[in-house]
Amino acid sequence: MKPRQSNVKKGFDPPVDRSDDIRPRRRAPRASAMNNPAVRDVDDFYATHKWATDKIADRLSIGGHVLDPCAGTGSILRALEFWPRVKIAEGIELNEERAASYPTISQGDFFATEPRHVDWILTNPPYSKSLEFVRRALEWAPDFGTVMLLLLGWAASQKRNGLFTNHPIKASLFPLSKRPSFATDGKTAACDYAWFAWLTNRFDQGKFEVLPL
Ligand SMILES: C[S@@+](CC[C@H](N)C(=O)[O-])C[C@H]1O[C@@H](n2cnc3c(N)ncnc32)[C@H](O)[C@@H]1O
Repeated sequence: MKPRQSNVKKGFDPPVDRSDDIRPRRRAPRASAMNNPAVRDVDDFYATHKWATDKIADRLSIGGHVLDPCAGTGSILRALEFWPRVKIAEGIELNEERAASYPTISQGDFFATEPRHVDWILTNPPYSKSLEFVRRALEWAPDFGTVMLLLLGWAASQKRNGLFTNHPIKASLFPLSKRPSFATDGKTAACDYAWFAWLTNRFDQGKFEVLPL
């Protein structure tokens, strides 16, 4: 399926697609931040490129009500606005300034927000709280899925083992065949990334599939 041309939606200001525009941080960016996990942004703020969101939105036919629980400046939401199946693309973001940068983001703490029913959770969580984000997100999206952009090696961990071995939903892995860039200088990451997807009631459960470019 192709993304739609028009992104004008009832009740929404027409979004400007700035997903390729990684907004300046409040302080000077450090060397390579997320491109090098050893040097990280203090807030764990990195914007996800539109192409990475488009790949998974297309592959999983993401639609209905989608929530990014740590939306940053709304890069994922902006990309989703172009997909016709998506009816509501909303976000929660802790940082006030970032939350104010896009109309469908509410400022708040995801962990302090009472779970509501959404069809999909789609995000690139802060690395330092990624396990907590996955666990909490799984409570929000019981019908379709929870989809997270994580380091490809994220699964190789004893701490996270239960999410793959004991969890009732079998996780699927969709590695990106191209490394994303999270740096202001456009340099690509030094690590490989994948969309991890916990998909309920779907034939895609337990898949490993490299997403083509
Ligand atoms: C890696 S960035 C991702 C931004 C966005 N999801 C994207 O992919 O472009 C993580 C964001 O999570 C936010 N964050 C951290 N803890 C949070 C929490 N408890 N609730 C909501 N947002 C949070 C940070 O402020 C940061 O903007």
